[in-house]
Amino acid sequence: MSFGNVTRLVLLPAQKVLERNPLSFCRGFLSGFPGFHSSIRLISWNEGRHRPQSRNMSKMSGANQRVPISVDIGDMRIKYKDKSETFSEDDLKSKEPFGQFQAWFDEARVTPGVLEPNAMCLATATKDGIPSARYVLLKGFGTDGFKFYTNYESRKGRELEENPNAALTFYWEPTRRSIRIEGTVEKTSAADSDEYFQNRPFHSQLGAHASKQSSVIAGRETLMVKERELLAQNTEGQVKRPECWGGFKVIPRSIEFWQGQSDRLHDRIRFRRREPHDKPDGILLHEGEDGWVYERLSP
Ligand SMILES: Cc1cc2nc3c(=O)[nH]c(=O)nc-3n(C[C@H](O)[C@H](O)[C@H](O)COP(=O)(O)O)c2cc1C
Repeated sequence: MSFGNVTRLVLLPAQKVLERNPLSFCRGFLSGFPGFHSSIRLISWNEGRHRPQSRNMSKMSGANQRVPISVDIGDMRIKYKDKSETFSEDDLKSKEPFGQFQAWFDEARVTPGVLEPNAMCLATATKDGIPSARYVLLKGFGTDGFKFYTNYESRKGRELEENPNAALTFYWEPTRRSIRIEGTVEKTSAADSDEYFQNRPFHSQLGAHASKQSSVIAGRETLMVKERELLAQNTEGQVKRPECWGGFKVIPRSIEFWQGQSDRLHDRIRFRRREPHDKPDGILLHEGEDGWVYERLSP
């Protein structure tokens, strides 16, 4: 990956930020600090309009050093599946995508090394089509959609309000499998959100009240003060769900199943809802079940 055109990074460390320079931090991150549980989002920056060398940066120790960093990781690759383990149409566990999702999800759940099989990358976009992506946790799925919970006033919540199109991606490294889901979102009912909220641990419930998700704050202490206030005001088992917090479900129009091959001739089978003009021929387009058709995509 080249970082040449990336000049701003949003760093979300669960431990102390060890580097003030985002690219050095990223390099350390890639080389793997033990016990690191963090996520990095790269945001491209139009250098013509913004100057990344802000006043705050120049106050930081070591920030005067302008060492160009170029990390070549072009040879980072692992082996995927070999030719004896392809994913063919005959391997489909179901002729509609929810059953197939469940089959792969169940396998991921029991695969050593898949720590959070329900972690999925959620992509949203503004009404003008500016995208953003982040991980959220899948909390339920069925033929009515894929559910997650969040703050409706967060960046993703606001984007989904103005543009209800969303995409989800799972990648379970040890299985060499990925699933991509595209569709539209709807909020889950207030009763559903209440039920899920009531089942959350006490501290997570307080966290939902303490955090105005995606807003800028002065420091961690702001959250700690809020948490202490909320602890003093609330009793376990009696925390009400904030109105701005609840569930969304992604109602899919397509779901793709990807399995990686070492020779890069990966397997891709995509289900999509059948359109009136579709004429399954059993060659390029296959008849599925429950209003779905499926087709193989070139890797
Ligand atoms: C593995 C993982 C799971 C996460 N699950 C959730 C979740 O279920 N809901 C949520 O609001 N944020 C979750 N987050 C935090 C989000 O990635 C993100 O920081 C937050 O929702 C704010 O995103 P936004 O500013 O784009 O709205 C999770 C992060 C990670 C790394």
